[in-house]
Amino acid sequence: SQYQKGVKHMYENGIAHVPKKYILPDAERPNVITDKSSASPPDQINIKLPVIDFAELQGPNRSQVLKSLAYACENYGFFQLVNHGMEEEIINNMVNVSKRFFEMPLSEREKYMSADMSAPVRYGTSFNQKKDGVFCWRDFLKLVCHPMPDVLSHWPSSPQDFREMAVTYAEETRFLFLMLVEAMLESLGLKNREKKTESLLNDVDADEDAIFKELEDGSQLMVVNCYPPCPQPDLTLGMPPHSDYGFLTLLLQDDVKGLQIQHQDNWVTVQPIPGSFVVNVGDHLEIFSNGRYKSVLHRVVVNSVKCRISVASLHSFPFTSTVRPSAKLISETNPRRYKDTDFASFLEYIKSCDSKKKNFLESRK
Ligand code: SIN
Ligand code: FE2
Repeated sequence: SQYQKGVKHMYENGIAHVPKKYILPDAERPNVITDKSSASPPDQINIKLPVIDFAELQGPNRSQVLKSLAYACENYGFFQLVNHGMEEEIINNMVNVSKRFFEMPLSEREKYMSADMSAPVRYGTSFNQKKDGVFCWRDFLKLVCHPMPDVLSHWPSSPQDFREMAVTYAEETRFLFLMLVEAMLESLGLKNREKKTESLLNDVDADEDAIFKELEDGSQLMVVNCYPPCPQPDLTLGMPPHSDYGFLTLLLQDDVKGLQIQHQDNWVTVQPIPGSFVVNVGDHLEIFSNGRYKSVLHRVVVNSVKCRISVASLHSFPFTSTVRPSAKLISETNPRRYKDTDFASFLEYIKSCDSKKKNFLESRK
């Protein structure tokens, strides 16, 4: 179709109006959902997400920080991670090389277009081009990062330093993810660093060690998003409301805001903190925690002035795994809340979705 070329292309051709294909019905437009408790329009509602200090997590305050972590995952499904130890240069390189990728001519970018949803690299636009009734204002590059037999050889070879920057960033993000998993398991009361020796003897941590190993062998996808300026940002969205399917997502955003999360019936904007990660609970962690941690709906609003770049790194179990609530989080007073689920049925579900993607979990309870 004429929209195949994406929104960056349209923007570069100087369109003055959002084409019909991108115009949302009234009720779904970003400006109609207002804060019930005040008169301010939604883009003025700025909550501060809970902030987790990763360095503090490694120190004597660990148990306190773990409590904050649990609180954030229960009440927001999101937090910002600071002092995470990843070098600033690695982060800046990733943002810069992503910008340079999208600045290349369309002829370069479109080499990576693919209809195959599981291709190691896929360039595209909107959310699910084949199914979307209304398109969204986003172009993206999706990269399979792990497991990585030789997927790297399929990754973009231009910009010339793309692979180097992206692979370094992906590996560092993965390392951080696994450190967070350890903390998450501990915050759910499933693992305790200090009691490790003891527990090895009586095997109480065996399940959690198995989960950790599964996640170590798990899947990692990276989605580089580009949201060009939009002439009528009140009519469309950069990404429709959705929850992330995986265990955890680590999101890097540049200095342009746009991400909104649903919190207490409002859409609230996440204020970028330079150099930090926005971390969110995915469907698989909600299931694993038997509903204690929440996979929360989020969306992206666009603006008429600045291009926004974000890099989402989605981490979860291997594609062959079955996800189920941890046996230790099921009891008589807290019965099992989710059916077993697997990637195969998830992929089926995704294929059937349009951009009004519903929360995957609603169909699994
Ligand atoms: C996402 O939800 O995966 C992307 C969010 C963003 O661009 O901020
Ligand atoms: Fe997301």
